[in-house]
Amino acid sequence: MTETNKPTDLYSKAQSAADYIRNKTPLLPSLGIILGSGLGNFANHVKSATRIPYADIPHFPQSTVQGHSGHLVLGTIAGVPVAVMQGRVHAYEGYEMAQVTFPTRVLGLLGCKTLIVTNAAGGIRTTLQQGSIVVISDHINLTGTNAALGPNEPRFSMIPGAGQRFFDMSTAYSLRLRTLAIEEAARQEFLLTEGVYLAVLGPSFETPAEIRAFRTLGADLVGMSTVHEVIVARHMGLEILGLSLVTNMAAGIPSYGQETADTIDHEEVMETGRRVETQFTSLLTALIPQITMEQLVAGKKS
Ligand code: HPA
Repeated sequence: MTETNKPTDLYSKAQSAADYIRNKTPLLPSLGIILGSGLGNFANHVKSATRIPYADIPHFPQSTVQGHSGHLVLGTIAGVPVAVMQGRVHAYEGYEMAQVTFPTRVLGLLGCKTLIVTNAAGGIRTTLQQGSIVVISDHINLTGTNAALGPNEPRFSMIPGAGQRFFDMSTAYSLRLRTLAIEEAARQEFLLTEGVYLAVLGPSFETPAEIRAFRTLGADLVGMSTVHEVIVARHMGLEILGLSLVTNMAAGIPSYGQETADTIDHEEVMETGRRVETQFTSLLTALIPQITMEQLVAGKKS
């Protein structure tokens, strides 16, 4: 067992990271956002922002990938206090699962009750297109590991009943939040469909044979992130919305209207992010106050 894998150790490290952040700003975020490849610019829309480089936060892992800037941005979006991760780390960079999910643990300790996870993904379902935004309805974890491995740490419970050794994943992607997202997109006059996200370890993109296999398994999207953050967030009891941006069609899948499939490169992933930025930003900006408003009303009722 490594240092960060010991549960008590992990908890105290996450506490010291959270304490450091609390000393930088009095803002108490109720919602955390993790921005995927090409989507980092959303953090520039945060108002009254405090930007903290990951390098300054105790025990925070640092991204080595182009397009992941590595800042935690605290401030408000449409009046809602948020903590936005501009960039994340991945297992393929050589990080252990406890490190990959460390920032998610810290967001929970900072008081976030909701987590919006975003990512760049390859489109497996043939009706998807480069630039489509998809609401994640469920996931398939094919990374061969699980972020909740190791002794359980019940103090990572952020709502009553969470922090258990075994925890439910059947409602990991909140139906309430999925519905809000789809309804808001309809209001903004674009079609938001749902899809199953399959996670691989990477960093190689998949082979066409793998993608055919994944389609048979029921996957609509493929990517190299998200599932571990979602597992850890569910362990803590957070409510989750997952959004994928289809930056390319997956290996072997031709783009709509084409006969043959293209090869895939990281620059394409970044370029698609830039192209869809306005739509992504207006969807999130409109959604965030709706998410927390409903929570306040529910909280008052209970
Ligand atoms: N495969 C895996 N991860 C990805 C892809 C892909 O095609 N596109 C963006 N992230």
